[in-house]
Amino acid sequence: MKKYPKQEIAKSLGFSDVEYNKNLNYGDLSSPIALKIAKKEKKKPMAVAQEMIKNLKLPESITAVSVSEPGFINFKLSDNYLAQLLQKPWRVPLRNYIAKKERVLVEYSSPNIAKPFGVGHLRSTIIGDAVANCYSALGHKVIRINHIGDWGTQFGKLLYAFNKWGSEKVVAQDPVNELLRLYVRFHSEAEIDDTILNKARYWFKKLEDKDEQAVRLWKRFSNWSMEEFRAVYKKLGVKFDLEKGESEYIALAPKVVNELKKKKITTESEDALVVRFQDKDITPALIVKKDGATLYMTRDLAALRYRLKIMKANSIIYHVGSEQSLYFKQLFTIARRAGWVHSQNLIYAPHGLIKLKEGTMSTRRGRYIALNLVLEEAEKRALAVINKKNPHLPQGQKEKIAHAIGIGAIKYNDLQNNRTTTINFDWDRMLSFDGNSAPYLQYTYARLKSVGRKAKVQPLLNKKLNNEERVIALKVAQFPEIIASSAESQSPNILALYIYELSVLLTSYYEKYPVLKADIGTQKHRLAVLLAGAKTIKCGLNILGIEAPEEI
Ligand code: ARG
Repeated sequence: MKKYPKQEIAKSLGFSDVEYNKNLNYGDLSSPIALKIAKKEKKKPMAVAQEMIKNLKLPESITAVSVSEPGFINFKLSDNYLAQLLQKPWRVPLRNYIAKKERVLVEYSSPNIAKPFGVGHLRSTIIGDAVANCYSALGHKVIRINHIGDWGTQFGKLLYAFNKWGSEKVVAQDPVNELLRLYVRFHSEAEIDDTILNKARYWFKKLEDKDEQAVRLWKRFSNWSMEEFRAVYKKLGVKFDLEKGESEYIALAPKVVNELKKKKITTESEDALVVRFQDKDITPALIVKKDGATLYMTRDLAALRYRLKIMKANSIIYHVGSEQSLYFKQLFTIARRAGWVHSQNLIYAPHGLIKLKEGTMSTRRGRYIALNLVLEEAEKRALAVINKKNPHLPQGQKEKIAHAIGIGAIKYNDLQNNRTTTINFDWDRMLSFDGNSAPYLQYTYARLKSVGRKAKVQPLLNKKLNNEERVIALKVAQFPEIIASSAESQSPNILALYIYELSVLLTSYYEKYPVLKADIGTQKHRLAVLLAGAKTIKCGLNILGIEAPEEI
């Protein structure tokens, strides 16, 4: 297994670890080892550090060593070593940075049939996809799963409503909106006449009993919805390896339920099966209803068992909104008690809400934002910006760039935040070319590439690096660790911040050390620094699922 650059340095010194310094006045890297030893041996840290550096044999990559309060040992890396880092741009998948290639199942998106693809599902899709990309960039075998919500009592409501008020012709013209309209109508009528709830139950029972008419309609609903979802995925550039509806797990449910019964994990309660938990904070979970029907939980248990036993997952990551956190505690606890989980990791990676200026959303009341409109709006706004910035580009190219920028802006708006925070949808900030936004990063990349085209020289590093160049090289060196920590904590915002910081460094370097006005040798050198950084930006953006056009 390959080590990260900083681990390589630590190893060559015989230290357990070293860290990058924020303030380069103290050197590029530092180690707290003397502090630790001093604590253990009850000695003065500064004295221990002084003593240690006396006997230290420095590897070639280190040119200076010093001690600073309260007992850090600091190292300065050689220009040669840093230049090497800039000469070997990172490529994904990164090779050999993982101990073992694992099967990582990443579940994300998972919208519900016959309902609009909501902004919550958008968040799951964007973050989940970026996390999946991080794992595959590290060299793992990633399986991307879309767990489609295609079963549940809402289909009884919809079947009833469709039969009562709907028509295939009308629905076919604008399926998701028409189905939603029927669903909303059902709920408003149910407020006046609650007997229709029973009628909905009756229809759901028909569906469960595989009544031909009910199944046929349900399949129509499903096809209509999937068509709309696919259009969204296409716009977002998101692909899945496995798209499976909840309904496909119903057949596996009896076996799973029996196993839980046999293992005495379930208890009966008024004819229904429930699981109770020792932990007081986890409320009992209903596993099978009185009438024997499966629930969201039953289908998830079946899916989980399938993923562990049949798909042989080493890790399963669920990207689902934070409102389901109790539910996932229940699910994972049951799986553990059933003995399905050995060394595998079950990870729930919740995300917070997206707030729109319009306020909260409620599908039942028909208050929601149609996602395809959001995406189109983003592209439209991006196109307007491009028309202003670069009016002479051919139309086709403008549209391609508008797509990259518009979708990139939406994705980055999400990815730059910690995934658990509630985020706001702010068009102007998202599409701004300055500040921390995707267009700024894409623009930085395109500008660096354009300098490369204009310079007409081959990039070539001098052996000597100035302070800014050292900082850039140290930043570039951190790329693989950044990917690893983004994956491990399911937090692509770590990578997003990194790309932003690198872009800021490169922009100010370029402004201070212009390329085109310099002599040829200097041009080559500066260009090499800039292009190494640009490659890293592109690689990082792509891992986030964001395109980096060569020209804007
Ligand atoms: N379809 C569900 C919803 O929209 C999300 C499914 C999450 N995944 C799961 N395995 N339960 O709320």
